[in-house]
Amino acid sequence: MAAESPYGSADELLRSDQESYFHPFTDLRRHAQFGPHIVTSGQGVRLTDIDGKSHIDGLAGLWCVNVGYGRREIAAAIARQCERLSFYHSFASMGTDVAISLAKRLAEITPIRNSRVLFGNSGSDANDANLKLVRHYNILRGKPEKRKVIVRRRAYHGSTVLTAAASGLPTLHAKFDLPQETFRRVSPACYYWRADKSWSEADYAAHLLSELEATILNEGADTVAAFLAEPISGAGGVLVPPDGYWQGVQDILKRHDVLLLLDEVITGFGRTGNMFAAETYDIAPDIMTVAKGLTSGYVPMSASFISPHIWDVVASGAADGNVFGHGYTYSGHPVAAAAAHASLDIIKNEALVQNAAEQGALLLHLLQTEVAPMQAVGDVRGVGLIACVELDPVWIDAKWSDTTSPASVLARVCMENGVILRPLMNSNIVAIAPPLVVTDADISDIVGVLIKGLKQLAKVV
Ligand SMILES: Cc1ncc(COP(=O)(O)O)c(C=O)c1O
Repeated sequence: MAAESPYGSADELLRSDQESYFHPFTDLRRHAQFGPHIVTSGQGVRLTDIDGKSHIDGLAGLWCVNVGYGRREIAAAIARQCERLSFYHSFASMGTDVAISLAKRLAEITPIRNSRVLFGNSGSDANDANLKLVRHYNILRGKPEKRKVIVRRRAYHGSTVLTAAASGLPTLHAKFDLPQETFRRVSPACYYWRADKSWSEADYAAHLLSELEATILNEGADTVAAFLAEPISGAGGVLVPPDGYWQGVQDILKRHDVLLLLDEVITGFGRTGNMFAAETYDIAPDIMTVAKGLTSGYVPMSASFISPHIWDVVASGAADGNVFGHGYTYSGHPVAAAAAHASLDIIKNEALVQNAAEQGALLLHLLQTEVAPMQAVGDVRGVGLIACVELDPVWIDAKWSDTTSPASVLARVCMENGVILRPLMNSNIVAIAPPLVVTDADISDIVGVLIKGLKQLAKVV
């Protein structure tokens, strides 16, 4: 039965969409032909669409709805805050009680001890701010030439001019004429992607580390400001780094006075089975970005955690009377801060970090035992509740002739069977990252649908 929508019937919404809506990251030609998939409500791990069909959301929206949909506690916190104080800003020493208390709460749980918290509205704008901040820091230190940033191919750091340029996905760069001059690229870190199949995990890590150090040395360490990376690349392919990688990276960066900017936009707030992936990999970043799971996607909010040694330079830069010239109208929005408090309460009260670790272990076990041996599957990998299936390039070369990518077809088939998964850009990878409230039964449903989808995919060829 069709779901009720106060905004119109399915046909009306389809027409409005076709006339007026510009969908981001969308194949616009295909969209013009097939239209949108319209979602109207969500509860727990499930979404209902305009046709009344229920799906498990296997990607937590866009890796963000950590506490699941329809949480009354967050709705109530948002409503209370709207009634009490719907908006006030944080420029020019102004602030709100709720945002100040959130900054304190976050500073106490971040892996960066005694950090300062700079709020933003999205992962993109927070990473963009961090890239600006690094330049500001080095200018204040009298090292303006130290401004290059090393990034990894396949990284995703956002969609602003600077963060899209920093990202390493072809779709983000094509025909946008982005400023690339300060970015230098190194390889992504994922053992399945090693160039030489005879390498052990340790050989592979050593190869990546020597590439990173050679890049710094070739450029000249006095021109390299930072290394920007996700602990586990999400949108680029759920790229799980080899053992020893993060320790080695940190040793190299320290040796050359290069800052570590850690992008925890996806991994923050429990997804890897720890509160932050920095704990999972024992990473001590200089600046760290969070967004998505901060409010579980109920309203937009992001935050940058700034280490004391950077803060001290920035704060002392104000001694000559300069205002720190960065911020957004909605930085530290009180309604978003109230949602973040409520989401953090749920994560704590329901032990969702622990649940992510347990359900993630089950998910990976099922993927390894039941999915990995299947025809068409090249690799399965994951940490906590961020995982993926990568299709086998040999199988694709031998069998696949459709112009649509097999990962897109697999995701479409899974959606028809009731589970939303995400085919990743410029890849043959389907990602799985459900809300952290998933149960054993949900995980087994997700894997069951994936297996059914892979069987259907094999029949398509
Ligand atoms: C690692 C990472 N960084 C940054 C972003 C950009 O965040 P937003 O879409 O909130 O701007 C994303 C979005 O998926 C992300 O995965």
